[in-house]
Amino acid sequence: AGMTLTDPFGRTVRSLRMSITNRCNLNCIYCHNEGDPGSVSEMSVKTIANIVRAAADFGVDRVKISGGEPLLRKDLEDILTMLPPLKDVSLTTNAILLQERAGSLKDAGLNRVNVSLDTLDPEKFRMITNCKKNILGKVVAGIEEAVRVGLTPVKLNMVLLKDLNETEIEDMLSFTSQFNGNVILQLIELMDFKDVADLHVNADEVENALLSRATDVKVRRMHHRKKYIINGAEVEFVRPIDNTEFCANCNRLRVTADGKLKPCLLVNDNLVDVSDADPEELPALLQLAVSRRLPFYTSRRD
Ligand code: 5AD
Repeated sequence: AGMTLTDPFGRTVRSLRMSITNRCNLNCIYCHNEGDPGSVSEMSVKTIANIVRAAADFGVDRVKISGGEPLLRKDLEDILTMLPPLKDVSLTTNAILLQERAGSLKDAGLNRVNVSLDTLDPEKFRMITNCKKNILGKVVAGIEEAVRVGLTPVKLNMVLLKDLNETEIEDMLSFTSQFNGNVILQLIELMDFKDVADLHVNADEVENALLSRATDVKVRRMHHRKKYIINGAEVEFVRPIDNTEFCANCNRLRVTADGKLKPCLLVNDNLVDVSDADPEELPALLQLAVSRRLPFYTSRRD
């Protein structure tokens, strides 16, 4: 085996999370707006490809593309085409623009999508996303098309929000089970990027409710994350808060839309700028970023 990107705590980076734009066509109440929204210059296709190639030389074989809303970049298919061979290339999207792009994304090498979908209720969707138009239909059409062209498994990211969607897990489960195993529901515990203290749900209660209804429970080895099978639908619960395993098993390195390597999700003062780096410089810069990874973000928030 060749060299790996292993941090001072023994965690080896296997996955890149790349934001390719900060622009978004929604404005969700809880969103972490990675980077400063709007203003930053976006990495070119070439810069993105160079970073992924350099990381791939260290054995990084998974890439997740995110935003902002990554489908706002018209050159996303070009980006995908320029990537080296990888085990898994996925995309996190709100799916508003997915129906018309799913086929071309699949052809360009995308393996699967994660769709942010917190509610199936049009009124609540409007409240959560601050979107005046009724575009929930577009989102559902995007999910259906993604399944049809094989961007599967499609994972639905549902951030649990008190009094807003916590009672909707059942509806989301029925929606999910329609797709015969091609769609997975991923419940996500809310993180405090904004002042969202009032929106936190009791995660242990949710977890216990899932456990009591599950006909089968599997533990995903990589993240020690539990998978529940309920009414034929697969449900995962992502609990980043007070879950030391979230950090202890972290194998991701983030890249901001303007080309900075970001060693930890919630820490912003240790970034490594690679936006103007030559390809020969990238290996050392990747190693520098990984050397700056912190043990647990819960002990170090800014
Ligand atoms: N807490 C948890 N997850 C969040 N996301 C965005 N903001 C937050 C937050 N405050 C996740 C959602 C979305 C993805 C892009 O980021 O799951 O689907």
